[in-house]
Amino acid sequence: MDIKQKKALVFGGTSGIGLATVKQLSELGAEVTAIGRDINKVTHVPDNVTLKACDVLDKEALEALFLECGPIDILVSAATGGSRAIGPFAEMDMEAYQASFAKLWGYTHVVRYGLEQLSDSGAIVLVSGTPARYCNPGQIAISSVGGAVEAFVRGVAKEIKPKRINTVSPGLIDTPMVALEGEARDAHYQKLTAKNLIPRAGLPDEVAQGIIFAIQNDFVTGTTIDVDGGLLLS
Ligand SMILES: NC(=O)c1ccc[n+]([C@@H]2O[C@H](COP(=O)([O-])OP(=O)(O)OC[C@H]3O[C@@H](n4cnc5c(N)ncnc54)[C@H](OP(=O)(O)O)[C@@H]3O)[C@@H](O)[C@H]2O)c1
Repeated sequence: MDIKQKKALVFGGTSGIGLATVKQLSELGAEVTAIGRDINKVTHVPDNVTLKACDVLDKEALEALFLECGPIDILVSAATGGSRAIGPFAEMDMEAYQASFAKLWGYTHVVRYGLEQLSDSGAIVLVSGTPARYCNPGQIAISSVGGAVEAFVRGVAKEIKPKRINTVSPGLIDTPMVALEGEARDAHYQKLTAKNLIPRAGLPDEVAQGIIFAIQNDFVTGTTIDVDGGLLLS
């Protein structure tokens, strides 16, 4: 797909990986709408970017947003959806475990209602995460959710052809998702990435490059693209 002058919606486009994707799509000449619950997170956007507030868990609001913004060519969701549970499953708070699936419900809502407005040559990209296929102790919630996202994409790709859908799976990425600052932030990322083939946190722009590839390459569908510094092999 030639991204120039295409119409793109990016959920979770106000921070981190989603915001980096918005900027790259904008630089490539797309007309982009960046969506999050709080659009005041973003202070400046290029002329070809519009900000809209919407919660991916609110189905009625999503349907209205797609009707307002459609037809579209590119649909990306990096919206985390809500909180995630961390810790061993044997001690898991089951409410918190179930709440972690807000990410999956947000993604599936966006695909369900977005498909109606997506052109036949259109492309969808969702963001999973390395724990889907490399789960350390304590990561079972995000692992289960990520695995479900990747299975959803593999399955639904067959149903929606010729429209395309792919997952991009990041490793540990330096985004506002982690609230630490300064030396504590550096130490956090150094500790968690020390054994990786590329021993540093990834950049939101590096993941956005994977998302752009999945949009541009018309021969790629139903798969997962890893942008993880070799974490799966570490
Ligand atoms: N950072 C990492 O290390 C990492 C690793 C693997 C996978 N991932 C995945 O990559 C994706 C993006 O992560 P990130 O690090 O870029 O996160 P981030 O910087 O925290 O950005 C999350 C974005 O999602 C939006 N969002 C969250 N809940 C939403 C909702 N209910 N409705 C609409 N928008 C919502 C946020 O805006 P509002 O809060 O204002 O709504 C924000 O724009 C997530 O799916 C995450 O699980 C991240």
